Amino acid sequence: MRSTVPSAALLLCILSRQSCAEPRRACRNVPGSPGYPQAATWNAFNATISGRLVSAVPSAKFCADRLGGCTDAEWSSALFRNTIPGAMISVNWEQGYDFSPPSLCYRNGTTCGQGDVPLYSVEVQTVTDIQAAVKFASRHNLRVAIKSSGHDSSGRSTAPQSLLIHTNKLSSISFTDEFFVGTHNMGAAVTVGSGVHMNDLYQQGKANGRITVGATAATVCAAGGYVQGAGHSALAPAFGLGADNVLEFHIVVASGELLQVNSVSNSDLFYALRGGGAGSWGVIVSASFRTFPTFNSTRALITLSATDNTAMAALATLHAKHIFDLDATRSGGYFYLHRDPTTTASSMTLESFLINQTVAQSEAILAPFLTAAQALPNITIASSTYTSALINDLLFIADDNGGNNLVGGSRLIPAATYRNSPETVGKVYQQLLDSGAQAILGNLVAGGQVADNAHIDSAVTPAWRTAKTHIILSNQWLDSIPLDQIDAARSRFKRIQLPILEQLSGPNAGSYSNEADVMEADFQTTFYGPNYRKLSAIKSKYDPNDLFIVTTGVGSERWDEWGLCLV
Ligand SMILES: Cc1cc2nc3c(=O)[nH]c(=O)nc-3n(C[C@H](O)[C@H](O)[C@H](O)COP(=O)(O)OP(=O)(O)OC[C@H]3O[C@@H](n4cnc5c(N)ncnc54)[C@H](O)[C@@H]3O)c2cc1C
Ligand SMILES: *[C@@H]1O[C@H](CO)[C@@H](O)[C@H](O)[C@H]1NC(C)=O
Ligand SMILES: *[C@@H]1O[C@H](CO)[C@@H](O)[C@H](O)[C@H]1NC(C)=O
Ligand SMILES: *[C@@H]1O[C@H](CO)[C@@H](O)[C@H](O)[C@H]1NC(C)=O
Ligand SMILES: *[C@@H]1O[C@H](CO)[C@@H](O)[C@H](O)[C@H]1NC(C)=O
Ligand SMILES: *[C@@H]1O[C@H](CO)[C@@H](O)[C@H](O)[C@H]1NC(C)=O
Repeated sequence: MRSTVPSAALLLCILSRQSCAEPRRACRNVPGSPGYPQAATWNAFNATISGRLVSAVPSAKFCADRLGGCTDAEWSSALFRNTIPGAMISVNWEQGYDFSPPSLCYRNGTTCGQGDVPLYSVEVQTVTDIQAAVKFASRHNLRVAIKSSGHDSSGRSTAPQSLLIHTNKLSSISFTDEFFVGTHNMGAAVTVGSGVHMNDLYQQGKANGRITVGATAATVCAAGGYVQGAGHSALAPAFGLGADNVLEFHIVVASGELLQVNSVSNSDLFYALRGGGAGSWGVIVSASFRTFPTFNSTRALITLSATDNTAMAALATLHAKHIFDLDATRSGGYFYLHRDPTTTASSMTLESFLINQTVAQSEAILAPFLTAAQALPNITIASSTYTSALINDLLFIADDNGGNNLVGGSRLIPAATYRNSPETVGKVYQQLLDSGAQAILGNLVAGGQVADNAHIDSAVTPAWRTAKTHIILSNQWLDSIPLDQIDAARSRFKRIQLPILEQLSGPNAGSYSNEADVMEADFQTTFYGPNYRKLSAIKSKYDPNDLFIVTTGVGSERWDEWGLCLV
């Protein structure tokens, strides 16, 4: 497959009217290509970036080569994986399953292929490092990858044969009471480097009496993929999406230029960076987000058990009927369903963040649903905890879990579905569970201010503005299963789960590009909706040679699966 692609592109050059003496660059340079930099060239480059160039290896190789290896706790720690330049948080993205033959590096394996892991990484610390890396990659026609946390659920922060620009050391945080865009005072804001983790943002916010719209995660980077995708949050119904709250970016674009991007300068790029998809525009140095005065809230963590899928379906319908119960307080949260793989039982865990509410107020808000749930046959409340604290502390998580094989797919479910046909929710959940789904992750992170922000002129897909929830189906597997079963797991969402889920979302509904299936058939429409054409034009202006290409990103239709050759 792969070798036929460049020759097709070369043929195009011969057949087209353009001069073939200077042929179109059909493929990126990889080791062995005549244009690939020699060792001396790499060394000279390394010297210009204070020795911050490292060879990247798969995390399993890093651990195998490390004295004493990596403990299980280290292997599964996102914080630890962040210290390994080649590591992704979900290790499947490091594997080259689709290479011929597959190039794999398993934790306890006896062989190790480089797979989808970049060859080199620039561990950037300054803007100058980023500019040098971008110019070097451009001059030598290299495949580029950009990574901050490596959390990406579509593996977009790694690429085979590439030069990685790794921004996780850009960890500055600064708060201000007056943030100016041009001459306009936008009020209080925080400026974060693109390597700043959510947990640092929540903690530093606490010290400053402020809160920002952010993820329910420890190590996802606010100024990395999060904001470029849209950025949902338990606080989104109260304050809008992450992308609705960003005021400015500093970004190094393909020319190597550092740009200030906001509503008055480079405003077309500002449009694109807010929802137009991660990794397609340049290397973000920092972003400035609006902050709000912090406040006390209550986190309600309640697990309900169902003995079988029929009982869970009834619970899901009941939950759908009560989905608007949190609206009066503009609160949000999660409803995660897990099926016990060994029995017929399943559980639904509700994690609600009740904004500005006491425990008693929160109990009263959830009571109508919980009372009705307990009256359902074969449903029991397994546990229930209410915690009141500063919202910063409630959102703080110390670390994220990683080192597993995990893919998923999702749809934004319109509020109208819940209003008009909540029974469909139970029916769909039952079909998903009966089809073998292990986890259905409901995110109650839309409506409220997300809907009220529909007027904002950004690339956030309009499906977010009419949605009530964002539902993810996640699929996991162990390295020990055969490759054909791994392929089946990788395509399970597309083959089995999406046709079922579409009964809820409708056939042409949107999906959140940051937590989505890499195999989406029409990613342009599904992730970007009516914005794709405009985004394509902005892409051509700021990145005319497609230096920044990611799977399912704007312009990626011009490239093969690996972003190595034009198709
Ligand atoms: C445990 C967990 C919880 C999550 N919770 C939420 C949530 O609550 N809300 C939500 O909206 N999403 C959530 N997500 C999804 C998350 O938004 C995406 O995984 C997102 O892509 C992560 O961005 P990142 O920069 O941290 O990750 P990375 O994997 O480092 O990068 C992701 C994408 O952003 C690009 N990128 C990274 N850094 C830069 C940079 N400096 N400049 C330009 N491009 C860059 C990469 O090229 C890649 O395309 C969660 C994910 C996980 C794993
Ligand atoms: C880059 O230089 C540093 C410092 O001299 C060195 O430790 C590192 O190994 C070099 N990187 C590569 C890929 O050679
Ligand atoms: C691999 O080895 C580690 C310890 O060396 C062990 O704990 C783990 O269970 C093994 N299997 C996998 C799939 O990681
Ligand atoms: C949160 O509650 C604590 C304890 O009741 C109180 O001391 C504190 O002032 C409250 N903080 C805010 C921001 O309301
Ligand atoms: C929380 O309550 C305080 C005091 O009533 C109010 O000033 C603040 O705006 C509220 N915050 C939110 C997010 O509703
Ligand atoms: C409740 O569970 C029992 C045992 O699993 C089952 O026989 C019964 O049909 C269930 N009832 C309903 C109404 O789902």
